Amino acid sequence: MKRILIIISAMAALAGCTQKDPVKEMADRVFAVAREQYSLMDTALAEDRYPRCTDEDGGLVTTADMEWWCSGFHPGSLWYIYEYTGDEKFKDMAWKYTRRLEPLLDCVCDHDIGFQINCSYGNALRLTGDSTTVVPLYVAAAHKLADRFSPQAGVIKSWNFLRNDWVYPVIIDNMMNLELLTVGARLSGESALADIARSHASTTLANHFRDDWTSWHLLDYDPENGSVRYRETVQGYAHGSAWSRGQAWALYGYTMMYRETGKEEYLEAAMNIGDMIIAKLPEDGIPYWDFNAPGTPEAMDSTAAGATLNAAAYLETPLRDASAGAIMASAFIELSTISPDEKASARYLDTARRQLLTLGSDEYLAGPGTNGYFILKHSVGNIPGNGEIDVALSYADYYFLEALVRYSKISRTE
Ligand code: GLY
Repeated sequence: MKRILIIISAMAALAGCTQKDPVKEMADRVFAVAREQYSLMDTALAEDRYPRCTDEDGGLVTTADMEWWCSGFHPGSLWYIYEYTGDEKFKDMAWKYTRRLEPLLDCVCDHDIGFQINCSYGNALRLTGDSTTVVPLYVAAAHKLADRFSPQAGVIKSWNFLRNDWVYPVIIDNMMNLELLTVGARLSGESALADIARSHASTTLANHFRDDWTSWHLLDYDPENGSVRYRETVQGYAHGSAWSRGQAWALYGYTMMYRETGKEEYLEAAMNIGDMIIAKLPEDGIPYWDFNAPGTPEAMDSTAAGATLNAAAYLETPLRDASAGAIMASAFIELSTISPDEKASARYLDTARRQLLTLGSDEYLAGPGTNGYFILKHSVGNIPGNGEIDVALSYADYYFLEALVRYSKISRTE
């Protein structure tokens, strides 16, 4: 009898070991969809166009040229499809869209050259090791970004266009572009590039966050002395609100900067931002487009400074932003692997799993041939600007695929 019991429990343990993690199972399904969608997308795109979002009817792909800030995401997604599936067809496709970005080096760019080059050429280098093609271009792009730095203010200027009477606008999104500098420093041996990245991250940490670890979107600096002229939230509900993609960029940015520099203050920041986000997330893990938008549990009223007037249209059912959810999930996975606090790591990984499982559900995952050939539905680009509202967005796909690739590489899944 005792022997039978031992055999039964051994079999049960074996069954438990071989049971596939639901996120890993879902990842296989998502990459099958991604292969179909991105193959169709390739045939639909005219030469020199990059997918941007779906149109208002959710059907057709709206494209942009390479100067649009998102042009690196499409080749980046193709690199992740290649990495996960090993299908050489996607490697060829990824190189095609990556190489087309070379003329960016001669364009008038803004801080987004970081997204454009790191997501495309950065992944190309990581996956192919083709340093002859990539390194000179990557380092030249890093210099283009570094040229936007003001030593007096200690930060990089984000946008070229000026609204109101901005002088030197710096947005929280800019944290993402620092990886171009830290990697560029390693590739070239020029430590000054990494110094600029550290200065930008530390100055942003000092000025961009409120006491509760939420972040403003935009700070306008005086580039001569570094004083802050304005604090605003251009793409969120109100100046004082927590625009969810901004919170996602902050989480990802400080996690990445801790990985790149080992500076403890960046890890502390990432953990504080992460815990703030977790406390605000709805049950399914996908953030409202702004954590303080009308209709949300922490809604601000319409008299809040800078309140987005057209947001009232979304009062009944505050929209979710899949792009912010995907960026957060990818960052939470990395944070879970580098945080020394085991309990916190488990919390971050659990949150990422929750987010990924929701994004992989029918509510968010497109059926093949639909959704303008994008993978994810229901992202929000810019409600105050009346654009890209409840659509597919190229960067939602990119960070979703990145998160799934990252997840597939970690062994601890409880
Ligand atoms: N970096 C622009 C955005 O997040 O919409």
